[in-house]
Amino acid sequence: MKETFPKAVGGITLESPLILAPMAGVTIPPLRLFFRKLGAAATHTEMVSCAGLMRSNTKSGNMLEICHKEEPVILQLFAGDTKTLLTAAEKAMSEAPGRFAALGINMACPMPKVLKKGAGSRLLEDPEKATSMVKSLKELGAPVWVKTRIYSERGFSMTASFCEKLLSAGADNVCVHGRTPSQRYAGVANRQSVFDLAETFPDMISASGDVFTPQEALDYLEKRCVSVFIARGALKDPFIFPQTLAALGFSVDNRLLCPSIGLQISLLVELGDHIAEMASPRLAEILIKRLLSGMFKSIPGIAELRRDCACLHGWNALRDLMSGCEHYFERRDMLCRPT
Ligand SMILES: Cc1cc2nc3c(=O)[nH]c(=O)nc-3n(C[C@H](O)[C@H](O)[C@H](O)COP(=O)(O)O)c2cc1C
Repeated sequence: MKETFPKAVGGITLESPLILAPMAGVTIPPLRLFFRKLGAAATHTEMVSCAGLMRSNTKSGNMLEICHKEEPVILQLFAGDTKTLLTAAEKAMSEAPGRFAALGINMACPMPKVLKKGAGSRLLEDPEKATSMVKSLKELGAPVWVKTRIYSERGFSMTASFCEKLLSAGADNVCVHGRTPSQRYAGVANRQSVFDLAETFPDMISASGDVFTPQEALDYLEKRCVSVFIARGALKDPFIFPQTLAALGFSVDNRLLCPSIGLQISLLVELGDHIAEMASPRLAEILIKRLLSGMFKSIPGIAELRRDCACLHGWNALRDLMSGCEHYFERRDMLCRPT
């Protein structure tokens, strides 16, 4: 696998096939940079409301920010109609020329507030609108990436026909999450339908869904998916990126393969500081607590640290506790601070 990279995937030159998936409320610039440093070859913005961009809504506008050295970033947009999508994308491109490696269209979100606008996975019900969105974004010259879901557990042909229409309209990459919109995040992702799509459309299909271990990423890649988007698995264990890269034959800093608790904590503190500075201390507290709650499973002492962190309020208090957490661990060697 390593030998074939760097390579052009969906019009973007990628160092590897591992991509941080879009996550609303999570994939803000400091977090994206954190995952880039851990080995994500590209990342996504949160889904950005085109209507919000058109109204010059501050929250939507702020989502166009990126950090130094975090490229390539895919700007994911959502809209219920082609005109709003195109105008907002034009606005984003003119305000931030060259900032984004590709324009993404969200045709996957199953949340009611997105569906009622005719956006997200609602577009599966209107392939004509979906294809007109792709065609119109292609006019802007940037690669167009679509993220979508499967129609139904058994209806492979409908999903294949939808993907075929998107690709004929010019989509450079279609990422398929193997759940139906009504499943939301329940049940298990239907990997076989994603494998079948990847076989039907070689080099054009990326995979999303239930990647919690390196092997689960490898399975998608072995079945010819051109890249793998990782979402919840990255929040549970950010080191899934270096570990999967190593499994694919890429050379990886050894410290990231079996990271000491000390290294993990210091990276989290650095990340929290960056979030506090670029976004807000409140968001730093929320996101670092979220990462802490999934990481460091089965390590003596971690349950107490996690419990005490959960009771604290404010990033500074959390930061202080994490920075002086040595006494939580019986085996000090597990902490060995990074050099
Ligand atoms: C907190 C959260 C926010 C998400 N936000 C988005 C989003 O903005 N756009 C999108 O296309 N998918 C979004 N997703 C879906 C993920 O990108 C991904 O497709 C899904 O979680 C399945 O992959 P996983 O099993 O690796 O988590 C989100 C998922 C989570 C957990």
